Amino acid sequence: MKKILVTGGLGYIGSHTVVELQNTGFEVVIVDNLSNSSLDVLTGIMAITGVKPTFEELDLRVKEDVSNFFNRHSDIDGIIHFAASKAVGESVEKPLLYYENNIGTLVYLLQECERYGIHNFIFSSSCTVYGEPDSLPISEDAPIKMANSPYGNTKQISEEIILDTCTVSEIKSIALRYFNPIGAHESSEIGELPIGTPQNLVPFITQTAAGIREQLSVFGNDYPTPDGSCIRDYIHVVDLAKAHLMALQRLLSDKNTTDFEVFNLGTGKGSSVLEVVNAFEKVTGQKLNFKIVDKRPGDVISVFADTTKANEVLGWKTERTMEDALDSAWRWEQKVRNI
Ligand code: NAD
Ligand code: UD1
Repeated sequence: MKKILVTGGLGYIGSHTVVELQNTGFEVVIVDNLSNSSLDVLTGIMAITGVKPTFEELDLRVKEDVSNFFNRHSDIDGIIHFAASKAVGESVEKPLLYYENNIGTLVYLLQECERYGIHNFIFSSSCTVYGEPDSLPISEDAPIKMANSPYGNTKQISEEIILDTCTVSEIKSIALRYFNPIGAHESSEIGELPIGTPQNLVPFITQTAAGIREQLSVFGNDYPTPDGSCIRDYIHVVDLAKAHLMALQRLLSDKNTTDFEVFNLGTGKGSSVLEVVNAFEKVTGQKLNFKIVDKRPGDVISVFADTTKANEVLGWKTERTMEDALDSAWRWEQKVRNI
């Protein structure tokens, strides 16, 4: 049984990936500092898989603690590195927090990979590395534009750090560039639970429908898109989680063609904010209180993925629709709020 370290494994995407790993027979060790998650997630993972993953509360910013962890777990076969700070606005306010948490932790982990001969490393990247694209859909060959936030910059720098490390070591890595993950596990045992006011669209929608937020603000309706609102590629988090499994298996079986590979993970379909709102109302039967407000600074107009490489090379494709994701997100919100 292969032993996989999942950093940030109690977080949103990490927890869904742990479920897929355990359901496939991997032994999972989670480290998380609980800065954006809670121990309840372990209960949810257990309810779905029947297996309690090993968990250690660990702050990856503390180099000595990271070293001590690997002294005790030197038999790890691969790492999926989710742990990071991810709020774009906060990164503008507190850039050093982001550089420390997203870059420092990556360096420590890669140092331990070198020290213990751990050669398989999956990294959570983002479509934010493309900035405002020149053409759509965006393929992995699209130019990396200047980052529009310190958060985005950490993802660009991280990819460079991994590439440089792979070039001179035996480490092989895949960076997965996520588009917009939404939804929850079908069981409603795990899902997205942002701390404080949600910054992302779908949790804001479900919290508005649940009566926790008074009104959804739609940021702008005069963009050069068919209905004037921004377009994104919303991907079901379970489909996204499954892609991690395929990327890991690719590395473990030496199927990678270069030591550092990148894949877009999206559906290939763009949906506008207003289309998401309409789809949510249709799928759930909930009327959503929303108003159009000013544009949000820093938003790109339209992004959606060219998924050809992930489909053909990774052998992965999405199986769930945006409607499935919105339905699962709403069922999760209802469960969490006892509605
Ligand atoms: P999340 O905040 O739900 O999960 C991250 C987890 O990492 C949390 O449980 C948090 O407590 C933990 N963590 C943070 N800093 C840590 C540290 N120093 N030591 C140990 N644990 C730490 O976020 P998510 O949405 O699951 O995102 C996972 C990854 O995917 C991140 O790297 C994020 O940047 C990336 N990503 C997310 C999205 C998205 O829209 N959710 C899009 C693109 C990329
Ligand atoms: C953002 C980041 C991305 C990051 C992701 C996860 C940018 C350009 N991208 O994605 O790098 O990985 O968050 O945190 O910052 N919207 C509303 N009302 C709301 C919330 C959002 O109208 O209350 C709109 C936004 O304007 C956007 C769309 O919904 O058009 C999606 O927004 P969001 O969920 O925040 O994701 P991104 O901005 O695409």
